[in-house]
Amino acid sequence: MGKGLSLLLLVLVVCYGVTMAMTYKEEKEWEREREREWREEKGEGAGKGGDWFLFPDSKPVMKTDAGEMRVVKSIGGRIIEKPLHIGFITMEPKTLFIPQYLDSSLILFVRRGEARVGCIYKDQMVERRMRIGDVYHIPAGSTFYILNPGEGQRLHIVCSIDPSESLQLGTFQSFFIGGGTYPTSILAGFGPETLSTAFNVSVSKLTGILRQQQQGPIVYLTESRAPSVWTKFSQLQEQDRLKHLKKLIQEEPNKEEEQQTEWSWRKLFDSFFGSEDKNIEDKAPDCYNIYKRSPDFMNNYGWSIALDGSDYSPLKYCGIGIYLVNLTAGSMLAPHVNPIATEYGVVLRGTGRILIVYPNGTLALDAKVKEGDVFWVPRYFAFCQIASREGPFVFFGFTTSSRKNRPQFLVGSNSLLHTLSSPELAAAFGVTQKRMMRIINAQREAVILPSPEAAPPGEEDGKKRVNFEAVPKVIKNLGSEMIMGFDEGGA
Ligand SMILES: *[C@@H]1O[C@H](CO)[C@@H](O)[C@H](O)[C@H]1NC(C)=O
Ligand SMILES: *[C@@H]1O[C@H](CO)[C@@H](O)[C@H](O)[C@H]1NC(C)=O
Ligand SMILES: *[C@@H]1O[C@H](CO)[C@@H](O)[C@H](O)[C@H]1NC(C)=O
Repeated sequence: MGKGLSLLLLVLVVCYGVTMAMTYKEEKEWEREREREWREEKGEGAGKGGDWFLFPDSKPVMKTDAGEMRVVKSIGGRIIEKPLHIGFITMEPKTLFIPQYLDSSLILFVRRGEARVGCIYKDQMVERRMRIGDVYHIPAGSTFYILNPGEGQRLHIVCSIDPSESLQLGTFQSFFIGGGTYPTSILAGFGPETLSTAFNVSVSKLTGILRQQQQGPIVYLTESRAPSVWTKFSQLQEQDRLKHLKKLIQEEPNKEEEQQTEWSWRKLFDSFFGSEDKNIEDKAPDCYNIYKRSPDFMNNYGWSIALDGSDYSPLKYCGIGIYLVNLTAGSMLAPHVNPIATEYGVVLRGTGRILIVYPNGTLALDAKVKEGDVFWVPRYFAFCQIASREGPFVFFGFTTSSRKNRPQFLVGSNSLLHTLSSPELAAAFGVTQKRMMRIINAQREAVILPSPEAAPPGEEDGKKRVNFEAVPKVIKNLGSEMIMGFDEGGA
């Protein structure tokens, strides 16, 4: 029997024998209800065309009582050179996101809790323990599972979903390996006779397995619901599992149910680990913890981290960069431009404002954002982020390039205007050079600037949009010395 089939067998076993919790129909109804809620929430406060850059709330794509996955779908179209969807996975303690592969590649980021992610790497199953702040890449077509081993802790994962290799059937397509009636395993399509021959087991044993799973893509692993053999297995340290597997197959099973498990484990064991203890160390890439990295830029007003292919090699292959910014209360990431990448951002903590400017110098977006909001900024577009006065504003996200993305700052002591500073620049604004210099040199800080006047006050006006055109003024009114003259309109 080939490794491939054994692999399928492994995951079949993993998903075997759980009880029904939520039917497909309920699931659909739940989705529709969420849609309605979402529309109602969104109905108010949504501005004009600018909200294009602020993604609507995420929509559920999978949901069971053990967890859910929600996705914010990229808008697509010509302006985005590489669409990325943003996914949010929430899993209750002791649950498993069952083995599947996708037509899209993922970068997982653990926002809260702890996860064990199993993934096939070069025909070997490897498992990674992911802690808060860890990122990990799962290539399209690679089978993986996610396990929340936590005792009392929910797992929150934010992920990028890169559909560039997708089949374009939907936002993304899952192919469940394990499964039953819901979700349906891709194996089921072959029919019992073909499978019986392929697996070399009786039809009755096979159909028993292929009809068990009705609980959905995220399942509980508690004693009462999952096969105890798997529960025990999942509690072990990685190095102990091999030993445990050995013990398992040596135990003489007596019940019919256990027999099914037994043959599966034996085959799994034989084909994966050989008959002797093999060093299960692997060469697959490890996780990367973004919180442990020291900031690439830091001053009194905040810090930023950018992770590219030279820091974490899996990013090189998927062509995606990762960043994390922490602005202290009332600070601003100075107006800047990404010359090579579209930027997708997720607010992790606090509230703030995002301003984005159209190429013609008019304001495209001025929105107050809060935890969980997702925004995107096309490359070449000028934009800035401002933390509210009430506390730090932390956002994290993905850029569509794994090369060093050197943002070009338009304001601040390292700005483009400083670099350009010359009679020609003054002439371009129609002012004297002396006057130009006075304006440019007034701001002594770089990158992250103090900006209490521009910062939104905080929670209390969640719906009110601040009527404020700071960035266009920076660009248009340089000549009249308004470079940092943020006059706050309606706030
Ligand atoms: C199928 O299983 C039987 C006994 O269970 C074994 O004798 C036979 O060699 C197996 N065939 C293959 C192709 O593995
Ligand atoms: C952001 O910075 C604040 C201090 O300004 C700190 O308390 C907070 O833990 C930081 N957040 C992250 C995610 O590092
Ligand atoms: C600037 O461009 C945007 C987007 O193309 C457009 O909606 C807006 O009307 C333009 N504004 C002006 C003043 O040309």
